[in-house]
Amino acid sequence: MKGFRQMVGGAIRLERVEKTYGGAGGVQAIAPLSVEMRAGEAVSIVGPSGCGKSTLMRLIAGLDAPTRGTISIGSTPVDGPVPDIGIVFQRDLLLEWRSVMGNVMLPAEIKRLAGLEVRAGELLKELDVAGFAGAYPWQLSGGMRQRVAIARALLTKPALLFLDEPFSALDALTRDQMNVLLQRLQTTQHVTTLLITHSIAEAIFCADRVLVMSGRPGAILDDIRVPFDRPRRLAVRETPDFTAIGRRIREHFEKAGVLVG
Ligand SMILES: Nc1ncnc2c1ncn2[C@@H]1O[C@H](COP(=O)(O)OP(=O)(O)OP(=O)(O)O)[C@@H](O)[C@H]1O
Ligand SMILES: [Mg+2]
Repeated sequence: MKGFRQMVGGAIRLERVEKTYGGAGGVQAIAPLSVEMRAGEAVSIVGPSGCGKSTLMRLIAGLDAPTRGTISIGSTPVDGPVPDIGIVFQRDLLLEWRSVMGNVMLPAEIKRLAGLEVRAGELLKELDVAGFAGAYPWQLSGGMRQRVAIARALLTKPALLFLDEPFSALDALTRDQMNVLLQRLQTTQHVTTLLITHSIAEAIFCADRVLVMSGRPGAILDDIRVPFDRPRRLAVRETPDFTAIGRRIREHFEKAGVLVG
């Protein structure tokens, strides 16, 4: 566990990582791809559907192995599931029969960690759902459910927070709120964040850096630094610098024929 703590504290490094499903002649999901993410950095990944974004996230989390190439976190190679990553998916995967607090505390029970009740309460507060600790998931809106899922993902203070299209099922206004909340959390929780999204604006707003992926097999077409100060307000999306980054990303998709018009 100590070695692991050291490991997740460091940079994420991918060197010529490839993934083909189903052996030779199978589906190549990831083309040889090399990239580095600094500890504490917030990185968004955008790319066409099926280009290998979720695959890439699974490989870094050690939930699946690359066909070729190496992945390391800090100085340790990833060769199995990396424990202590908080992961949030589009479906919140809350347990309906457990209260909000019961759901947030689940990782502590699984990992047999004591004394995390205070942190759970603090996270619920930071995510603006403190008043619902005793409620059940079915009593919550979609946005509130996702807040609870994020609190649960952060409970054990993971160094890495991975989010795979976490806000895609939410309405536009709720999604905006979640974007503000996520970029606030990145500051307060000092967590290295990897966000997969189909929304170009969300990718920019929530990140220090946007990686643009090509169609399958996924390669990195562009690596864009996002210069805006934090905390960010939604109005930053209307600034010329923001729209210029959006245009740059859109142009990649237009060139690839993914976006027309
Ligand atoms: N377990 C698997 N077995 C076989 N093929 C798979 C598997 N998982 C993904 N694929 C294939 O690999 C490619 C990349 O899939 P992946 O889910 O990583 O894409 P994605 O970029 O996350 O797509 P989306 O934006 O639609 O979520 C797809 O062609 C998919 O069908
Ligand atoms: Mg996906």
